[in-house]
Amino acid sequence: MRVAKSWMLGVFAAHRVAAEFDPLTLVDPLIGSTNGGNVFSGASLPYGMAKAVADVNGQNTGGFATDLSGITGFSSMHDSGTGGNPSLGNFPILPQLCPNDVIDECKFLITDRPVNYSNESVVATPGYFAVSLANGIHAEMTATEHAALYKFNFSAATSDTGSKPFMLLDLTDLWQSRQNASVSVNEANGQIRANGTFLPSFGAGSYQSFVCVDFAGSKVNDTGIWVNNRAGTEVKDLFVTRGFNLWYTQAGGFATFEPPSNGVIYTRVGVSLVSTEQACQNAEKEIPEPSKDFGRIQTAAEHAWREKLSPISVKADGAGKGLQQTFWSGVYRTMMSPQNYTGENPLWNSTEPYFDSYYCLWDAFRAQHPLLTIIDPAAQSQMVRSLLDTYKNEGWLPDCRMSLCKGWTQGGSNADVLIADAYIKNLTGIDWDLAYDAIVNDAENEPLEWSYQGRGGLDSWKKVNYIPYLDFDWKGFGTNSRSISRTLEYSYNDFNVATVAKGLGKEDDATKYLSRSTNWQNLFKKDQKSIINGTDTGFTGFFQPKYHNGTWGYQDPIACSSLATFCSLTSNPSETFESSVWEYQFFVPHDMSSAVKLLGGADEFVARLDFFHESGLADIGNEPVFLTVYDYHYAGRPGLSTKRVHYYIPHSFNSTESGLPGNDDSGAMGAFTVFSMLGLFPNPGQNVYLISTPFFESISIKHPETQKTSTIRVTNFDPSYNNIYIQNATLNGKPYTKSWIGHEFFVDGMTLELTVGDNETASTWGKSADDLPPSSSVSSMLAM
Ligand SMILES: *[C@@H]1O[C@H](CO)[C@@H](O)[C@H](O)[C@H]1NC(C)=O
Ligand SMILES: *[C@@H]1O[C@H](CO)[C@@H](O)[C@H](O)[C@H]1NC(C)=O
Ligand SMILES: *[C@@H]1O[C@H](CO)[C@@H](O)[C@H](O)[C@H]1NC(C)=O
Ligand SMILES: *[C@@H]1O[C@H](CO)[C@@H](O)[C@H](O)[C@H]1NC(C)=O
Ligand SMILES: *[C@@H]1O[C@H](CO)[C@@H](O)[C@H](O)[C@H]1NC(C)=O
Ligand SMILES: *[C@@H]1O[C@H](CO)[C@@H](O)[C@H](O)[C@H]1NC(C)=O
Ligand SMILES: *[C@@H]1O[C@H](CO)[C@@H](O)[C@H](O)[C@H]1NC(C)=O
Ligand SMILES: *[C@@H]1O[C@H](CO)[C@@H](O)[C@H](O)[C@H]1NC(C)=O
Ligand SMILES: *[C@@H]1O[C@H](CO)[C@@H](O)[C@H](O)[C@H]1NC(C)=O
Ligand SMILES: *[C@@H]1O[C@H](CO)[C@@H](O)[C@H](O)[C@H]1NC(C)=O
Ligand SMILES: *[C@@H]1O[C@H](CO)[C@@H](O)[C@H](O)[C@H]1NC(C)=O
Ligand SMILES: *[C@@H]1O[C@H](CO)[C@@H](O)[C@H](O)[C@H]1NC(C)=O
Repeated sequence: MRVAKSWMLGVFAAHRVAAEFDPLTLVDPLIGSTNGGNVFSGASLPYGMAKAVADVNGQNTGGFATDLSGITGFSSMHDSGTGGNPSLGNFPILPQLCPNDVIDECKFLITDRPVNYSNESVVATPGYFAVSLANGIHAEMTATEHAALYKFNFSAATSDTGSKPFMLLDLTDLWQSRQNASVSVNEANGQIRANGTFLPSFGAGSYQSFVCVDFAGSKVNDTGIWVNNRAGTEVKDLFVTRGFNLWYTQAGGFATFEPPSNGVIYTRVGVSLVSTEQACQNAEKEIPEPSKDFGRIQTAAEHAWREKLSPISVKADGAGKGLQQTFWSGVYRTMMSPQNYTGENPLWNSTEPYFDSYYCLWDAFRAQHPLLTIIDPAAQSQMVRSLLDTYKNEGWLPDCRMSLCKGWTQGGSNADVLIADAYIKNLTGIDWDLAYDAIVNDAENEPLEWSYQGRGGLDSWKKVNYIPYLDFDWKGFGTNSRSISRTLEYSYNDFNVATVAKGLGKEDDATKYLSRSTNWQNLFKKDQKSIINGTDTGFTGFFQPKYHNGTWGYQDPIACSSLATFCSLTSNPSETFESSVWEYQFFVPHDMSSAVKLLGGADEFVARLDFFHESGLADIGNEPVFLTVYDYHYAGRPGLSTKRVHYYIPHSFNSTESGLPGNDDSGAMGAFTVFSMLGLFPNPGQNVYLISTPFFESISIKHPETQKTSTIRVTNFDPSYNNIYIQNATLNGKPYTKSWIGHEFFVDGMTLELTVGDNETASTWGKSADDLPPSSSVSSMLAM
């Protein structure tokens, strides 16, 4: 069985007594563990820093993958769902039995030591992970905030003639980014302390990582260090650095043990980003008795997860188990990251919270942070404060951040969206003057390195009101590309600044930034066609690159789409980032009304959306697509958003191990599925949720601060999903015709009842001009 508890139990309990329902039985941490989801499927607390799992040599971005590749070790820090190089995975431990107990016959090298695992043995539940290695060693693990506890059982191990457990620690991380490292082994008790300097997986600079490893369960036999594939017991300390041509030496420490009486060696790993002493203290404080604490810690982790999921309750009423797993696992993954490194930040002293692994905000602003705002507003407030403290101490808000380092910026300065979103949703505890300084800094000042903070091309932005193609930008450095997508994102970011300015009573600023938020219109080339393989798509008018002097450049509207070559920062950099002109034409979150008009009016806009989603142009595996699924609302056709969502779920987002269409990106995809199944999709930075039909008969959310319960309920709920079109609605019992609702719904605990039918065209709900979601302006289009 792949999960510890029976699904039937949870479903049965839900029907019997609501109070006994345990949502953990519907969380499957293995969703997205293969096929590029890169999800971390191991043991962690909500936002926990310690994340324990088996690391494999296949798809190892999240450490483990259900791809049946070889296990190279067990490490205690990870990121979840990210792309690019694998993050963290520092100082893996690998237990083994060595032939004849001869140290030199142990397996040391990353190429020699991988061990297969049996697919059936994998058990992943919140706070717990277990796997059996092909050599018979059974591994279980759980975690506290800053420590991991492993239980390695050798009873069934079959390794030639060896009987003494051999515990190897490798001075490495998942992508061998180590610059230098040290290890010290204590011969009396086998304790291994290690530290090293490593590189962030999608950012600049380096970071130091520290571990303190203790063993329990049997007497130490011997200890030592290893280098390449030879080991010695006389030497107990080692320092390695990179040598000739950055040559990477494999090395580490080890301890061997007398055969344990009950077959088990417990391994406790304290982690820290501050010092070895702190790593040891974390371990001692959180896991005082490694040989006795396993059950207690696992139970505490389960309790912590139950608490975090507790605001939500679902009446599934016939909706399949898979959909329920998709939903609850999505909520769960939203709380893996950002990680709470409060007390573990060596970069500055502060009493503010410190969160890391915003990986990246470009992905997470769209759904993940808005979901946390609803179900864990206290955490979201701490995250925003952490971003602001980072601004205060490093001078800039991050757009991406991991492993204490600045991550690469993909488009706009999207921390601005989080701040505007927190502002309009009344999150508490935030210094709004500091917040305003931080976002104005993004909007006004170009940093030397806009590859990892702020925005580039600001002189042009202010002078010609768009980001020019091949801009002359001598003030700062970044990949001089993405002129179209940056223009669209910067426009939105300026709208976010205007939102906060207006709220703070800074009317002049609000007017100025609102004006700048229309800059996107300057790149609309009204006679541009899109031709695919010689066939005209029939649509005219697309965004195009424009030189500083006003002359148009050219980028095929389908370039960078799923039908063409992927475009990223350094691979095939283009005028749109990781997405096409086709996809970006729908990204004007604050003024979709103008976008609809510019793109030919409501009917043509709907036809474009349909063509986009049905021609293969849409890249459902990457975040810019999210809002396009719901943009039908802005053309007065909310039912078509619902229809589109029902295609993608479960077709592209489902409960299988390969059930994510792309990287989860810290839970961005998880949050997309949760909002979609909830029937309210955020337009972040605005007090707007777009209403569609939930996948369950009713869903309630108890606001963690006001304690008020909001409910969205479907009359005529149809679990076969033929009746998915809202015919009419009531809010707190009164007719409600708008296709959107504000955050007050959650704060004040309102009830939205939707009556559904099978005919989209027959319904008038949400279609009239008064019922459309808000748009910032309908200002006259600039001359093209
Ligand atoms: C692991 O499994 C693969 C695929 O079944 C097999 O080719 C390989 O030999 C196995 N490795 C070991 C060390 O047994
Ligand atoms: C492993 O087992 C799970 C659950 O039975 C199954 O869905 C999956 O396809 C298996 N994986 C492989 C690679 O065989
Ligand atoms: C790393 O560990 C070595 C050996 O234990 C120690 O000498 C060194 O000071 C440590 N480095 C840091 C930065 O703590
Ligand atoms: C370790 O085991 C070897 C035999 O494998 C034995 O000779 C030696 O005395 C043991 N060392 C300790 C410290 O127990
Ligand atoms: C933080 O404060 C301590 C104690 O005053 C000091 O030793 C340390 O250098 C400070 N760290 C930083 C990064 O400023
Ligand atoms: C983060 O950790 C700090 C220090 O342990 C704690 O005070 C804070 O409540 C944590 N935040 C969350 C959201 O768990
Ligand atoms: C935020 O607070 C203001 C002032 O109390 C209130 O008018 C507004 O409705 C609140 N917004 C939300 C989303 O709760
Ligand atoms: C504008 O600049 C582009 C790129 O340098 C150039 O090809 C074009 O001829 C210029 N247009 C005018 C009107 O000078
Ligand atoms: C264009 O045609 C080629 C050759 O028939 C085909 O391989 C390719 O997939 C087509 N591209 C698109 C975008 O339809
Ligand atoms: C589940 O989602 C994956 C990823 O998008 C997709 O490849 C797969 O076909 C889906 N499975 C089902 C049964 O729809
Ligand atoms: C909502 O629609 C249902 C089904 O069409 C109808 O029975 C009901 O009277 C309608 N309610 C309102 C308030 O229009
Ligand atoms: C849906 O309603 C429209 C307008 O009332 C009607 O013309 C159409 O036949 C209906 N479609 C179906 C499948 O019932």
